[in-house]
Amino acid sequence: MADLILGQVLSYVGDPFQVGLAAASCDSAGGVLVDAGKIVAVGSAQELRRAYPQTPVTDYGHSLISAGFIDAHVHYPQTAIIGSWGKRLIEWLNTYTFPEEIRFADRDYADIIANRYFDLTLAQGTTSVCSYCTIHPQSVDAFFTAAHERQLRVWGGKTCMDRNAPEALRDTAQSGYDDSKSLLAKWHRKDRLSYVITPRFSPTSTPEQLSALGALWGENPDCLMQTHLSEQTDEIAWTKSLFPTARDYLDTYESHGLLRKGGLYGHSIWLEEREKSRLREMDASLIHCPTSNTFIGSGLFDMDGLKTAGHRVGLATDTGGGSSFSMLRTMAAAYEVAQLRGRALHPAELWWLATVGSASALHADHQVGNIAPGMEADLVIVDLASTPAIEQATRRAADIWQAIFPTIMMGDDRAIRDVWIAGKRR
Ligand code: GUN
Ligand code: ZN
Repeated sequence: MADLILGQVLSYVGDPFQVGLAAASCDSAGGVLVDAGKIVAVGSAQELRRAYPQTPVTDYGHSLISAGFIDAHVHYPQTAIIGSWGKRLIEWLNTYTFPEEIRFADRDYADIIANRYFDLTLAQGTTSVCSYCTIHPQSVDAFFTAAHERQLRVWGGKTCMDRNAPEALRDTAQSGYDDSKSLLAKWHRKDRLSYVITPRFSPTSTPEQLSALGALWGENPDCLMQTHLSEQTDEIAWTKSLFPTARDYLDTYESHGLLRKGGLYGHSIWLEEREKSRLREMDASLIHCPTSNTFIGSGLFDMDGLKTAGHRVGLATDTGGGSSFSMLRTMAAAYEVAQLRGRALHPAELWWLATVGSASALHADHQVGNIAPGMEADLVIVDLASTPAIEQATRRAADIWQAIFPTIMMGDDRAIRDVWIAGKRR
């Protein structure tokens, strides 16, 4: 059954980092026709009403209709430890993260957290995520089952670690390969689900495990691969000490078959020149996690430099190293981090990062992340006057971007009026 959804429709025809504001289009009295899970038509409300007179109408007035937000790097198993105080990366992993991840040996617990995670993220208008699970295959089953029940397009994979982690969280090079392979066979391309090969990061994998996962990626070239790269300076020094012959951190992946297009490199803050040029040559995806990078004290991602150099960049919460489930809050943090580096990101750029940019980082920008005929109908409806503070700022707006920016900086789940998943209102 078709639905006609009316409001201010925001979409993109290009990358605003490359072509400026001409990349964005906002129709203040627009409409989106959805049918059978897809966007069928986009146009003015008036024309669409006339062309489809029998179709039920949901009119959101002045609210914004956008593609749902896409969170390109999260750890759903860290849902319950979000906002844990006082540690930097390695200590944070040992103190909070690993003890929590051990609990996912219990499938019932994994189900509870996976369902809680999706309820929390959908309330924030996030319609797709790319998540790490834990080393337990059942944590992957819990994740994909909860996503499938909600008909979401998601990516996820078993986190592999065979050293420098508690015994209860260690697999082996062989079992990491075998488990990943059978989970991939079980879940990859099942409806809207995609399996992602997931070595946590070089310090927690032996060279043998990295090679085994590199081989698995070679055997499954249409899969994505996700990991962490150059997040904190101590982590980089530790990585170099564990891989004494590596040219740099990236080389620990590159030399094990874990660098190419389709690779997602979370954080990527302290990149050396060789790393940047190899990542660019490979058209690898860099995932910016700004609330995490400030919360864990990691550093300031060089959005301006990396986008100017032509890197593929997505945006992510990094829940629960990140301090929020909200992509609005994440855009605000990306704005603040870029300001500290001397560049004010435009609201059109921020919103693009949270939708098209993340979709492109996940190589799914032909499916999700934008509003156009043929795209999947995952939408978020955003109230641009959701609190008195935002409403009074927005009232003075001279254009749509001034109307959107207060919601980016101050908005939360109160701004999310509705989400539509695969053409159905949730
Ligand atoms: N590096 C390795 N594992 C993690 C993780 O779980 N969170 C973050 N932020 N960095 C990591
Ligand atoms: Zn992470």
